[in-house]
Amino acid sequence: AKCLQKTDAFLHRSIGTDVVIARAEATRSDESDEKNGRKSLHTLHMERQEQAERSVLISCQSSTNEKKFLKYLSKHGEINKYFFYESYGVYAVVEFANQESVTSLLEGVAIPGGSHESAVPFKSRLLSLRNLGSVDSSNQLSGRQCQPQTTIPINELIKRLSREESIDKQISSLTEAYQLTEENSRLRFLVCSLLKDIATAYFPECTIKPFGSSVNGFGKLGCDLDMLLDLDSITGRNVKLPKSGLSLEYQMKRANSERAVTQSILSVIGECVDQFGPGCVGVQKILNARCPLVRFAHQPSGFQCDLTANNRVAMKSTELLYLYGELDPRVRSLVFTVRCWARAHGVTSSIPGAWITNFSLTVMVLFFLQKRTPPIIPTLDHLRDLAGTIQHSHSGPLRISCRPIAFWASSPMAEAPSAWQGPAAAFDTKVYTYSCCCSRMCFQPALSPSLSLQGKEQNKPEVAPLHIQNPFEASLNVSKNVNASQLDRFVALCQESAWLLQQSETSTPRGGGAGGKGAPTPWGLATLLLPSQVAGIKSRKKRRREPASERIKGLLESLKNKNQLKKS
Ligand code: GTP
Ligand code: MG
Repeated sequence: AKCLQKTDAFLHRSIGTDVVIARAEATRSDESDEKNGRKSLHTLHMERQEQAERSVLISCQSSTNEKKFLKYLSKHGEINKYFFYESYGVYAVVEFANQESVTSLLEGVAIPGGSHESAVPFKSRLLSLRNLGSVDSSNQLSGRQCQPQTTIPINELIKRLSREESIDKQISSLTEAYQLTEENSRLRFLVCSLLKDIATAYFPECTIKPFGSSVNGFGKLGCDLDMLLDLDSITGRNVKLPKSGLSLEYQMKRANSERAVTQSILSVIGECVDQFGPGCVGVQKILNARCPLVRFAHQPSGFQCDLTANNRVAMKSTELLYLYGELDPRVRSLVFTVRCWARAHGVTSSIPGAWITNFSLTVMVLFFLQKRTPPIIPTLDHLRDLAGTIQHSHSGPLRISCRPIAFWASSPMAEAPSAWQGPAAAFDTKVYTYSCCCSRMCFQPALSPSLSLQGKEQNKPEVAPLHIQNPFEASLNVSKNVNASQLDRFVALCQESAWLLQQSETSTPRGGGAGGKGAPTPWGLATLLLPSQVAGIKSRKKRRREPASERIKGLLESLKNKNQLKKS
């Protein structure tokens, strides 16, 4: 807990001061900072949440006339932004300039009736547009006006990458094709805001915040929506009781542990989402997991949602990943590339299991970038020092040059981006050797407040095939779930990819560029996304299973014999 508090303080210092410094810097306008995406996660959350509160989600008919639709809504106030997308029908996200417009709009919304089914009268900002008049065929909503909410298929991506002229461009193209769009990000915050409306029935001051890849900068279109029910900021927590005299305290029910409280809160909210939540289907309460959660599908957005509570470490990990992603654009690009490669080969999956998670993979990439010469990102220790320097120097002239971003911008690697080998480096033999060593060595990213902060591998503290130290809870292994056969497969695929990139015919463009006819020949990164030759490697697990099944067979035989003996 102490360690967490320290890191907490550190993160707030570093993120908070970054904003202070950004403001202090005279040479850059706020606008250019925004363009460069240099916002703290906290600021991003605040802005997006506020936007979401002023927004509504409307199911439209495909025959809806866009102009009429906007004219109708504008009666309630100025519209800041709107967009359409498809998910089991056409939907519109409409953001008003003022909160009052939403109130005014909702005053005129009808509760559905006239059907043989009865409606649960829970009112939300998820609405349906009805058009009882004539259908206007001009300016109808069509697919082309809809903003895509899913990624392009892998085959199309391979074609797109094959047309690029360099590996650097392939990486940028992949990142561009897969990253969350502005609209998708807005939709994620809007879904959190809609969920919050349900949770506020019990906890009026709560917020629901997205975390994980929805906000850490590494999210791919179509990734799940991790949400945190935040009760930490409700008033009364910081009220200090006077040393003498009268004071009041809330009477509250108590449970055996914080975990038990989390479970009971999630159980009730999960029940509400299930019974009253419009568009929420397939609600599962997974309360006995290490991190209790409620899982469901939000149909109108198409998001698979995981709602957790009291999950501060996950939010801190999100902040840390976000911070690293902001330090250097190459961080996000490489993470996207490696995540996409891993997904294409089934190294990762959306189903929980013995495979490497995207989180583990991201931490591996960060570790890799810390170990470059010169390093591309700082160790956590170094980051902490820089944050400290920034804070101390707030009143002094040194402040700007001490900012992490400036530190890395001055590294020779940043000045010569083409010298960076991109994924070729990520899959090079060092990484392979490194992965091979995993069964003997500790694969500890230099992120935790322990020895490994210096970016050094250590002896593995436990008998897990892969050990990646949790950045905030040093004793925990984030890749504890990974079994030996999955690790074998991962290593074999790394080896194969490294080999492929070393071949001159794979690592150079093969013509059939933008102007060429027919499908371009895959090269570079595109080759790495093609089906692997090592997919069929015999896993250790399979080899081990044989004797186990023999043993079970023997056991069954002996049980049979015993039964026969009893009968006779
Ligand atoms: P995708 O959902 O696969 O796109 O990536 P994600 O980063 O969102 O991963 P996931 O949904 O599995 O987890 C959500 C967030 O929870 C992660 O980004 C981390 O911040 C955190 N998290 C996940 N697994 C672990 C873990 O084992 N340890 C810690 N400390 N945090 C984790
Ligand atoms: Mg996620």
